[in-house]
Amino acid sequence: MNVNKLLSLKGKVILITGGSGLYGRPMFEALAEAGGTVITASRSIDAAREVVEELRPLGFDVHARIVDQADHTSVLKLKSDILKEFGRLDVFVNNAVARPMRKYTDPLEAFAESMRINATGMFNITREMADLIAVSGGGTIVNIASMQGMFGADFALYERTEMDSPPDYHFHKGGMITLTKYLARKLAPQKIRVNCISPGGLYSGQPDAFVEKYTKKVPVGRMAGTDDIKGVVVFLASDASAYINGQNILMDGGLHA
Ligand SMILES: NC(=O)c1ccc[n+]([C@@H]2O[C@H](COP(=O)([O-])OP(=O)(O)OC[C@H]3O[C@@H](n4cnc5c(N)ncnc54)[C@H](O)[C@@H]3O)[C@@H](O)[C@H]2O)c1
Repeated sequence: MNVNKLLSLKGKVILITGGSGLYGRPMFEALAEAGGTVITASRSIDAAREVVEELRPLGFDVHARIVDQADHTSVLKLKSDILKEFGRLDVFVNNAVARPMRKYTDPLEAFAESMRINATGMFNITREMADLIAVSGGGTIVNIASMQGMFGADFALYERTEMDSPPDYHFHKGGMITLTKYLARKLAPQKIRVNCISPGGLYSGQPDAFVEKYTKKVPVGRMAGTDDIKGVVVFLASDASAYINGQNILMDGGLHA
């Protein structure tokens, strides 16, 4: 088959959570540019609508919905709305994240809140959307983890800044990478492939002290930009990756090479 056809998402109904966020926005855009019917769902309907209103005039088939992935009723409502309105789901990009814990010394309640959303909630929405993909005849799930789920933090990078790398984040992102492998096997009989992307830091106006130290360590000499994740997510969502299942792609500019 022609490679452009393999990479095309035409005819596919795609859900991405958090499609108005830093990495979410370029992925949302890329999935629509590749021809998909793309729904973004997040806690803030206003933020989701804003990005949809920017993309619709460009001719893209994009939609905004609200969901709290930590709330089972809200997830079930999103699931039944997608089925009613679009008739199917082919691709789920599991991107949303909440950051209730900011540093190592934060109270345990912040860790527990993170697990409620980023572990239990993340699993809940994944299982429900996998069920929807299964009744649609199969498809793909792309989990968005992080290099922080694969490696310990380089704390020297945060010196002389207010930044930190909180422990809950490493814990649930590491869990997501392992869950990818579990689900790749578990959901294969329902013709669902499950893969993961582990991005490095996206430049979003971090303090100069951090950016300088970080970029010196990255072989490609810069932090990630918004275009860097577009091709990877389209590839994993599309039939071009039909024989890739249970993998985690580290997208860190060679930081851990
Ligand atoms: N920004 C980075 O440098 C970076 C680096 C590596 C990996 N990542 C990963 O990329 C993904 C996106 O990160 P980002 O930086 O764009 O995040 P962001 O904070 O900009 O956006 C997060 C999105 O998740 C949504 N969200 C939060 N809680 C939710 C809930 N309970 N239910 C539904 N939606 C909810 C928010 O509404 C928001 O749209 C995350 O999985 C993150 O771990 C980001």
